[in-house]
Amino acid sequence: MSRGPGPAVRGGPAGGVPAIEAVDVSRTYQLDGVSVPALRGVTLTVSAGDYVALIGPSGSGKSTLMHLLGGLDRPTAGRLVIDGRAVGGLSAPELARLRNQTIGFVFQAFHLLPRTSAVENVALPLVYRGVGARERRERAVAMLERVGLGHRLEHRPNQLSGGEQQRVAIARALVTDPTVLLADEPTGNLDSTTGAAVLELLERLNAESGVALVMVTHDAEVAARARRRIAMRDGVIVADSDADPATGGPGPGGGPGPGGGPGPGGGPGLGVGPGLGVGPGPGGGPGLGGGPVEGGGGS
Ligand SMILES: Nc1ncnc2c1ncn2[C@@H]1O[C@H](COP(=O)(O)OP(=O)(O)OP(=O)(O)O)[C@@H](O)[C@H]1O
Ligand SMILES: [Mg+2]
Repeated sequence: MSRGPGPAVRGGPAGGVPAIEAVDVSRTYQLDGVSVPALRGVTLTVSAGDYVALIGPSGSGKSTLMHLLGGLDRPTAGRLVIDGRAVGGLSAPELARLRNQTIGFVFQAFHLLPRTSAVENVALPLVYRGVGARERRERAVAMLERVGLGHRLEHRPNQLSGGEQQRVAIARALVTDPTVLLADEPTGNLDSTTGAAVLELLERLNAESGVALVMVTHDAEVAARARRRIAMRDGVIVADSDADPATGGPGPGGGPGPGGGPGPGGGPGLGVGPGLGVGPGPGGGPGLGGGPVEGGGGS
């Protein structure tokens, strides 16, 4: 498909501008010599300022797609363009820089650094931007105030409630002023009241700042609130409330990858590297890896 029809983009000043374009993208994991096709030809465009809910059964490829859209991982086939730059042509450091400039991530499990204050957690992505200490703190404080945590600056994650921790993670994702915020089940670890507050916060930030919001959810009511709904099944898009019928047909199966992806038990690393690659890594606590997160458990 080409770019979306660009109907009234919620809160976005630049309706219809493609922030991320995926064309016939596949991702096949290699696990003990077996190919696991997690994505099988996905085509979609995320426009600036949009609000997209990504739904589908467990194992349908939602997180895999989110990792690709955010440049935490690369497709094994197909074309992926983030903020006008084709991912395939970028070195790992270039991709990390693009991620830092364009994408914010929020995960179900928060992934904050445990022995680090809220304000330092939020300021971290700015370290990799070369922003000076004083401005880092100013921007982190301002962002924490925007998410209602101006009174919790020096608290460490274990001194914060779940909802507060997720708001710190949202502040960290947005402190770099990204074009797209990718949220993978952001309310999944929260009770319903707290989850609703976090959802309202994300929606407010989308409306106010125009950051595109792509959110994985298992909650039909939550999905119903999004401007656009995309449903996945077995590694393909089976419905897109925006799209032409051509979207989401199974593509040619991707071949084995170049070896840059997560290995068994790896997962995109938790390295808060250049670009705030804060990916979930099974079995890993938050790491402080300074490098690009691809292909590694970030420790
Ligand atoms: N690192 C990996 N190695 C091998 N297979 C993987 C890896 N990560 C995911 N998979 C497989 O790819 C498929 C898609 O996984 P993915 O995590 O994208 O699903 P999901 O839609 O996010 O599911 P859930 O709703 O449970 O989070 C699954 O079959 C999963 O087992
Ligand atoms: Mg998932």
